Amino acid sequence: MEQEMKWAINHLPPSEDSKLPIMSVPEVQKARAFHKSFPQYTETPLTKLPCMADYLGLGSVYIKDESYRFGLNAFKVLGGSYSMARYIAKETGRDVSALPYDILISEALRRDFGQATFFTATDGNHGRGVAWAAQKLGQKAIVHMPKGTTQTRLENIRKLGASVDILDLNYDDCVRQAAKEAAETPHGVMVQDTAWDGYEEIPSWIMQGYGTMAMEAGEQFRQQERSHPTHIFVQAGVGSLAGAVIGYFANLYHDKPPKFIVVEASAADCLYQSAAAGDGKPRIVGGELKTIMAGLACGEPNTISWDILKNHVTAFVSAEDAVTIRGMRMLAAPLKGDPPVVSGESGAVPFGALATIMTSDACRELRDSLGLNANAQVLVFSTEGDTDPDRYQNIVWKGLTK
Ligand SMILES: Cc1ncc(COP(=O)(O)O)c(C=O)c1O
Repeated sequence: MEQEMKWAINHLPPSEDSKLPIMSVPEVQKARAFHKSFPQYTETPLTKLPCMADYLGLGSVYIKDESYRFGLNAFKVLGGSYSMARYIAKETGRDVSALPYDILISEALRRDFGQATFFTATDGNHGRGVAWAAQKLGQKAIVHMPKGTTQTRLENIRKLGASVDILDLNYDDCVRQAAKEAAETPHGVMVQDTAWDGYEEIPSWIMQGYGTMAMEAGEQFRQQERSHPTHIFVQAGVGSLAGAVIGYFANLYHDKPPKFIVVEASAADCLYQSAAAGDGKPRIVGGELKTIMAGLACGEPNTISWDILKNHVTAFVSAEDAVTIRGMRMLAAPLKGDPPVVSGESGAVPFGALATIMTSDACRELRDSLGLNANAQVLVFSTEGDTDPDRYQNIVWKGLTK
């Protein structure tokens, strides 16, 4: 197991933390109210695994299961939909709280705003969320996908009425292509789930949209445990999700924050490498970014998130595919008495990392330094279900590794 994971305890120099207010509780409440206005909205489950907690030597383990999100099998739609609403609100001079779902789909709004074309690049889940929201809100979506993406993921987006293709480019180059086309198209809007210098407004809205999931999880945890988590495990590609979740909980539990552990795919571990470098500057990972964790195959950190993460994360973990495979299988076939969770390749790596930390001798020091023991109450995000069902079955049923 030794080579399966690397980690860096966060010793980065803190910054002024100027991005943290993006994920303030009132901002996230607005996003939550927006999502609640959709007729399809329900909270996704927070699943307790008591037998697994016993087995791993932990106080409790909870999985936030995003396979139930809006029938789309992943959390991502929360960001795309909220950023579109915020954009429409800004363009029409309103506050987003004046634009719930029924107003957004009204004739009056159509007359005011017209129709925009939302461009994006995606490994699958974000594009599916953008396409879904565009369809629901009567907008257009154009989606580019990187090479290596499966046809199933493309078809899922096409079914929602978006124009979609797979380009012979990696994820980060697809982002550049989509941004170029948006800039050249009348009423074209780039709605990307990552930020870079000069492109921060829409990604900050996307992060606030993800906040809905974090807020639900915090409330559900409190209802079940009457306390808050001591440890939160979340995965990262560009880090928008991790920055959103950690930013929200750092605001909410300002006085006594949980320990935050961010888990990446080792093929695209830009945050881990940034942390290991130790100077506070983000690092980029280029090339093919080969991993089964398609949603985490992103090598360029979100600049807003990086600022939040470097101030609040406890440990950055870089995990091989074997770690998420372990997570997928353990969640699919849990100990007797615990319910199963369907968690896909990008969904299961935080749980896989937790299980590895608790069971591998090579991780003893990390386990101790994080205080992962019988007093720990651990919240783990599973951000997708079987978004690629063939691959999921290959791994979980057939024992394959991809
Ligand atoms: C299922 C899933 N989990 C996690 C992530 C990572 O999110 P981020 O790129 O914001 O770090 C993605 C990104 O696409 C994803 O699809």
